[in-house]
Amino acid sequence: MTQDLTRKQALIIDCDPGVDDAVGLLLAFASPELELLAVTTVGGNVPVEKTTRNARIIRQAAGREDVPVFAGAARPLVRALAGAGEFHGAEGLGDLEPFEPDVPTAEGSAMDALIDLVMERPEGSVAVAVMGPMTNLALAMRREPALAARLGPVVVMGGARSEGGNITASAEFNIWADPDAAAEVFASGCEVVAFGLDATHQVRASETDIAAIEAIDGEGARLAASVLRFSQRVEREIVGSEAPPMHDPCTVAWLLKPDLFVLKSCEIRVETASDLTRGHTAVEFRVDPATARHRWAVQADGPGVMALIAERLKS
Ligand code: RIB
Ligand code: CA
Repeated sequence: MTQDLTRKQALIIDCDPGVDDAVGLLLAFASPELELLAVTTVGGNVPVEKTTRNARIIRQAAGREDVPVFAGAARPLVRALAGAGEFHGAEGLGDLEPFEPDVPTAEGSAMDALIDLVMERPEGSVAVAVMGPMTNLALAMRREPALAARLGPVVVMGGARSEGGNITASAEFNIWADPDAAAEVFASGCEVVAFGLDATHQVRASETDIAAIEAIDGEGARLAASVLRFSQRVEREIVGSEAPPMHDPCTVAWLLKPDLFVLKSCEIRVETASDLTRGHTAVEFRVDPATARHRWAVQADGPGVMALIAERLKS
């Protein structure tokens, strides 16, 4: 079946690369169904200077210097910046020795890029995949009150319900890192499709998956294999499991093949007051599906997502 490439999905990816962000970006860069308008970066796994450089490194490896990279917020709305270097390496791309990519960061802020690119296109036509703390989108919504209603789906990697947390007992890192931003975005009225740990923990890179990607020729595949090997090692050392979860790629995989996931209508709210449960996502399924603005991924076809990643890295 030939793909209908006439109807590309316009997309902005907001991220904090980050090893799984890197795999998500490489998947998007290799997918012709997507019109990738921009990549915007935020401080998260590592500081924004490094996430921005890393996004440019990944873009260069994918041969996609046509996509501008805009730097965003260095720190959360209220809280101090807290990284996750143990899972991503001090430079953010595992063992990869960083370098200065050929094409510079675009002029202007991530927030203004989000506003300009969404507001100049038809309502609902631009999706945003958020793979890190939601600071940039929250700031953009504050700067442009009409943005939330103009946006297409905001496809978020973040939160946890049945899985519990990964940064604290009750919170997932992206939401915990900037709970205030997440709370504002979830309350904004925009359409949200959220991939929390409940779904992303079902998507894991096995030894077979990683070996298959290592066998693919190409700079993008080589970068993916490098960060996946690093992820596999730290997952074993820190968590004691054999296969690292592929959190961020779930957002792009859903845009490409929604049937890989099962979603439930809900309302997502975030704890911002308590230090103990900061960033906890209260995902309420007792909503009217006809009017609910949020959906929560409850099931993922992990092997299907990994097969899609390998297929696109080969292309
Ligand atoms: O909890 C997983 C999320 O936190 C992913 O986006 C990963 O890159 C880290 O930022
Ligand atoms: Ca991330």
